[in-house]
Amino acid sequence: MHIHVFSSEAELAEAAARRIVDRVRHDAEAVVGLATGSSPVAVYAAWGGQARAAGLDQSGVRGFALDEYLGLEPEDPRSYHAVIRRDAVAGAGLNPDLVRIPDGSGAPGAAAEYERAIRDAGGVDVQVLGIGRNGHLGFNEPGAAADSRTRIVELAEETIADNARFFEREDDVPTRAITQGLGTIFEARELLVIAVGNAKAAAVAAAIEGEETELVPASLLRNHANVHWFIDGAAAGDLSAVPASD
Ligand code: GLP
Repeated sequence: MHIHVFSSEAELAEAAARRIVDRVRHDAEAVVGLATGSSPVAVYAAWGGQARAAGLDQSGVRGFALDEYLGLEPEDPRSYHAVIRRDAVAGAGLNPDLVRIPDGSGAPGAAAEYERAIRDAGGVDVQVLGIGRNGHLGFNEPGAAADSRTRIVELAEETIADNARFFEREDDVPTRAITQGLGTIFEARELLVIAVGNAKAAAVAAAIEGEETELVPASLLRNHANVHWFIDGAAAGDLSAVPASD
């Protein structure tokens, strides 16, 4: 596990983006796993900026989003289809035709089909991840099995409350979602976990230094051979030993 701590979000974003851009430089058809949430937005923008500055052709880069709410139309601005198009596809400068997002319509077979699509693409090379305040990854809430696959899940109350800021009322937040499983996510060859701000400090400390348990999904990241944490000083605030800044 590599822990990189930065004094500013801008530096953090540039460093995380560099890892993705390096991968794309080596493989014009790289497969990048895309997370929603506010944490990776600056990383996507920095990725797009670096790719443009380097004149990198990203038209063959493939993307797979982690999750989607159940029951929102893809055109709904609150859907993760919309968020991924706006933040990741536009931010990083990706070809939208090659970016897949789980089908939130509840159609039977959608989860298995998504797993198949990731497998057919050869798996994910670099996966961008945020972390929920309760340690969730994607929408894998506390208690999710380490070997879980893409499936429909119930959202935790804390997640509904946290995500209510994107909806008019808390009651409007969908209570279910389709998410890649932890087993699916952990098959990515490299994981970049982004955490910014002191609201994430407790989750970051629990994930890095606390007990390894399915009750804190991000604590299971320790079993992955190639994880890079990109955190700012505030998100690192509850760590007992703060690694030297990058
Ligand atoms: C949502 C997403 C997660 C994300 C989390 C944190 O619940 N499903 O993938 O990591 O939000 O979001 P933020 O980065 O805005 O704190």
